[in-house]
Amino acid sequence: MYDDSLTKIGIAGVGAIGSAVARAMTGENSIEGFTLDCISDPDAKNTFGVDNLDFETLVKRSDLIIECLPASIVPALAETAFRANKDVIFISSAALLLYPQIVASLMDSDSTAYLPSGALCGLDGVTAMKEMGIRESIIASTKPPMGFSGAPYIIANDIDLSAINEKTCIFRGNAYDASKGFPANVNVAATLSLAGIGPENTQVEIWADPAAKGNAHEITVKSDYSTMTTRIENMPDPANPKSSVLAAQSIVALLRNMSNALVIA
Ligand SMILES: NC(=O)c1ccc[n+]([C@@H]2O[C@H](COP(=O)([O-])OP(=O)(O)OC[C@H]3O[C@@H](n4cnc5c(N)ncnc54)[C@H](O)[C@@H]3O)[C@@H](O)[C@H]2O)c1
Repeated sequence: MYDDSLTKIGIAGVGAIGSAVARAMTGENSIEGFTLDCISDPDAKNTFGVDNLDFETLVKRSDLIIECLPASIVPALAETAFRANKDVIFISSAALLLYPQIVASLMDSDSTAYLPSGALCGLDGVTAMKEMGIRESIIASTKPPMGFSGAPYIIANDIDLSAINEKTCIFRGNAYDASKGFPANVNVAATLSLAGIGPENTQVEIWADPAAKGNAHEITVKSDYSTMTTRIENMPDPANPKSSVLAAQSIVALLRNMSNALVIA
């Protein structure tokens, strides 16, 4: 679908992740078959030489939209894109759990939504294991305590992050509740749940560790024939300490896969 002609890309949100994707699209090693047509971001520091438009116009102009927004803004973009039957790559996967109307309007459209692996690894194994039946799916995410500042769960439970002086589990629950409590921190849990056995059945542990230098995610997935454990450690993105450089590169890798003759999935 994306290899016959030049596919016009619109990026919604050019903060840490959107800018990294725009740089990859406009740099020397740009992505064959794709061209950056426009962006949408009222606070863009760099427009990458293309028009900065509202969502409605961006959607009209683009063949494929890349979402790199705060989760709360995602429903407005998704609704506009799916009404026009346009395809969307979502990096804010937690938004799909937080705002069920996104998946409902996707199902009512002819659009395809893509979820890149983001800051996680091992989703290839999860999707293959899903075919044989997953019995258990657990993710444990560890970050420095202040990485959770401002999260609704921290505020609602009056947790003093500055008082945490040893590795502490601050949340245990399912991926759905984790997304509500930590919408900017647990996109990985949302993605794992959507790839595997769903948000109600995917178990999440969130750890605050003053000794952690970056963000670590460990997943354990069990089926009758395979048990998978993966761990990835990501240093904070200098452009946004709540993100990781890997998340942006997972979008770039997805685009390259969509244009390659040899597809690694
Ligand atoms: N899937 C994953 O593993 C993963 C990993 C890291 C981050 N994320 C998510 O990716 C998203 C983007 O992260 P980031 O680090 O680039 O964030 P960021 O804060 O650096 O960038 C967000 C950008 O969106 C722009 N924006 C805000 N409101 C807008 C609006 N109404 N219209 C257009 N643009 C608007 C802001 O100006 C900003 O430039 C976040 O939701 C984050 O939680 C996902």
